[in-house]
Amino acid sequence: MTSNSGISENTPHLLVLGMGGTIAGLAPNPEESPLQYEAGQVGVDALVAQVQSVVPAGVKLVSRQLVNINSRNLTDAHLTALGLAVSEALLDASVRGIVITHGTDTIEETGLFLQTTCGKLAQTQSKRVILTGAMLPSNAPRADGPVNLLDALRWASMPMDNCPSGIYAVICGRVCLAMDLAKRHATALNAPLQNAPSSSVSLINPSWLSGVKAVQAVWNEDLPIPGEDEWPWVEILTSHAGARPETITHWLSSAVQGFVLAGSGQGGFHDDWIKPLDQAMVQGIALVRTTRTGAGTTLHNIPELDAPGCCASGALTAPRARIALQLALNAAKQANKAGKPLTWQDFFAKITDLPEIR
Ligand code: SIN
Repeated sequence: MTSNSGISENTPHLLVLGMGGTIAGLAPNPEESPLQYEAGQVGVDALVAQVQSVVPAGVKLVSRQLVNINSRNLTDAHLTALGLAVSEALLDASVRGIVITHGTDTIEETGLFLQTTCGKLAQTQSKRVILTGAMLPSNAPRADGPVNLLDALRWASMPMDNCPSGIYAVICGRVCLAMDLAKRHATALNAPLQNAPSSSVSLINPSWLSGVKAVQAVWNEDLPIPGEDEWPWVEILTSHAGARPETITHWLSSAVQGFVLAGSGQGGFHDDWIKPLDQAMVQGIALVRTTRTGAGTTLHNIPELDAPGCCASGALTAPRARIALQLALNAAKQANKAGKPLTWQDFFAKITDLPEIR
């Protein structure tokens, strides 16, 4: 672990975990082409050093680099390492809160992963975990990373009576639950928060806070963090005009364990997929149906009856549904090993039951 402030690790502090991303990116020619850059180039200690002098008085910072990558390259093993680092820090009495600097491309997956594996622990330990990132590289003329990091540190250090513990994201002057974060624009500065319910960092909206409390009331047990080699293999397959049965049959001789079907409209898929998907289910491949539209909910038996065992994703988008299915398959496997007759559908339903804050 690197401590950029030279403080002892027993001193109460905020822990900043670095994962990489544009917030740590460098552009060779930042004045002329700020959008042509490489993510994950600057160490988290340097990002923290940039804001150190303006963090709220009395807040000590310790930084730790877990990985420094473009988040499109995030692997199962990276998520395992992040989950373990976060849960260890939540149990560490000297850590007051945790901020994670992360690429925005797959921050959506990480948000759901942390909520479902560490959300209850954050609550019982009365701490906040905050994801943040940026849309412009660190050396761009109007880089958004330093302000986002500072806002995240402020949110992490805010007194508990102003906002409950939990897993949040702070970007572009706004906050939401990390599980509601979704990048839905390629370049806009608020891209990671498009469609997300949010309130301003400085003015906490009471109806939003009651939504946060409703989520906490429902999430009563964290799912196990899969070991780095334990992640079930789950693919997202998108239905589209001209979809072919081969999109499904190609997989049937592989070791894939689940499909998330990103269907059109309300999550329906091409009729040419019906037969091969029946075969997939006979082979024990788990099926989740969601919508490729990027918004709205996918409901069981709507618009048509679902095949037995196929789950609808509720409000989960395809990338979130994929993480949820992986965690549910792993949780069922662990439960069965412990003699509990639970299915992946039991665990998946716990995730889709989380209230939406809209
Ligand atoms: C990344 O996700 O690592 C690159 C894009 C970004 O952070 O905005």
